[in-house]
Amino acid sequence: PAPGWATEADVVVVGSGVAGLTVALRCAAAGAKVTVVTKARLDDGSTRWAQGGIAAALGEGDTPEQHLDDTLVAGAGLCDEQAVRALVTEGPDAVRRLIATGARFDADETTGEILLTREGGHHRRRIAHAGGDATGAEISRALVDAVRAAGIDTVENALVLDLLKDAYGRASGVTLHVMGEGQRDGVGAVRAPAVVLATGGMGQVFSATTNPAVSTGDGVALALRAGAEISDLEFVQFHPTVLWLGPEAEGQQPLVSEAVRGEGAYLVDADGVRFMRGQHELAELAPRDIVAKGITRRMLEQGAEHMYLDARHFGAEMWEHRFPTILAYCRANGIDPVTEPIPVAPAAHYASGGVRTDLHGRTSVAGLYACGEVACTGVHGANRLASNSLLEGLVFAERIAADITAALDAPPEPAGSGPDSPARPAADTAAPLLASEARYAIQRIMTTGAGVLRSAESLARAAERLDQVRDEAVDELRRNGKTAEPGVETWEATNLLLVARVLVAAALRREETRGCHWREDRPERDDAAWRRHLLVTLRPGGS
Ligand code: SIN
Repeated sequence: PAPGWATEADVVVVGSGVAGLTVALRCAAAGAKVTVVTKARLDDGSTRWAQGGIAAALGEGDTPEQHLDDTLVAGAGLCDEQAVRALVTEGPDAVRRLIATGARFDADETTGEILLTREGGHHRRRIAHAGGDATGAEISRALVDAVRAAGIDTVENALVLDLLKDAYGRASGVTLHVMGEGQRDGVGAVRAPAVVLATGGMGQVFSATTNPAVSTGDGVALALRAGAEISDLEFVQFHPTVLWLGPEAEGQQPLVSEAVRGEGAYLVDADGVRFMRGQHELAELAPRDIVAKGITRRMLEQGAEHMYLDARHFGAEMWEHRFPTILAYCRANGIDPVTEPIPVAPAAHYASGGVRTDLHGRTSVAGLYACGEVACTGVHGANRLASNSLLEGLVFAERIAADITAALDAPPEPAGSGPDSPARPAADTAAPLLASEARYAIQRIMTTGAGVLRSAESLARAAERLDQVRDEAVDELRRNGKTAEPGVETWEATNLLLVARVLVAAALRREETRGCHWREDRPERDDAAWRRHLLVTLRPGGS
């Protein structure tokens, strides 16, 4: 649809988690005119749900080099070492700047030293946390306060639709569907020579996920339609310990942080057997893919719907002080972790892949940047190391802000002529707007065919069923000459279908097991054939 209103900025940031708000703050501090647009409220993204914390070599005896080693091991041969090096060496100072911005981390009352915990795959205590297990909420609070204090222009309830490009094919802004924001209501545009996608993940592509309802892959879908390169989408991380709420539970599920295992909780089956022992030298603290596989394997062997996390030995005081959020979720769901083991099962948690970027967050479309979970910077490889995601958002946000503000100071390049046009493939009838209910069909197809355990057969079936979802919408369009009504839910369903199809295609193509991509029919890692990335771009017409 044609924009009904338009505003201008030097930088438009899409999304308001740690990545988006850090880019906005750093660009604004350098004098850029910034507009932040976000789909719900400023603090509604994934960042505020992060529990365990943020990893950085802050502790005595720890070094960026050791953090690098753990990250590369977890990434199962597919990390970009230069990107990881940037992450781990710039990480500690980026965390200190976050503290200077106002975030309060848990610290020793006498020495003032930041308290550090452990999580899966880390050989050291390296995870800074806040409010016990409410790290993301504190980071989000501090950044939202700072953005408001800096007077940065923000537009809430603004679903991003498409990238605008100038006549040279460079990004020149975004179109938005805004609800209930006064003068900027309806379909509009923010024009800007720098566009930063910080839209978060796509966990909602599966039935059960730790991600909030807003995580529908909008940034990856926009980037695909704009012709940007997407990479590593097959690597979806399933968090091993998500509170099990029954076989019918759908949507966002409560996380039970890895930090609970970091502080000594252990996994047991219904007979009380610690099944992770003997599977990895770190047992329950093995990298996340190994623990998720260990749990899934045991569930399959025993025909069980979940395993248990036992932390009764923490006692009431430690639970209340160290993990108040998790304690409250458990008790609200009728489980008291002080007196009984917690039922847990893996659920979709994090997209290790996304919009491919270089070390400065630049995508393959000039002027378009990606930061945070929506991006694929190369730091996560085939499996993200726990608590590296908030850090990635911070470090690469600062790199992006430096790149954008340096370009603002440089002499202008020749401007593109003619009106900006949405970067949407011309023959886009291959993907008409879907009815909002399609979301649930997509989630079930993906959970059955492309979840923790995959095979060529399950993935091919998922691809077929996803195509049926699209075909039904195309038939409806042909029959009645109209698609679903444009709105947040119909756009979300449409974006979910697009990212699901790409994810399934990549998972089908990668004929091996590596990191969090687990193919039952190809159980071995195959470095000779597959130590490489799968890149995807969308051809005009949506194929
Ligand atoms: C957790 O607290 O277990 C989540 C940490 C992460 O996903 O990095």
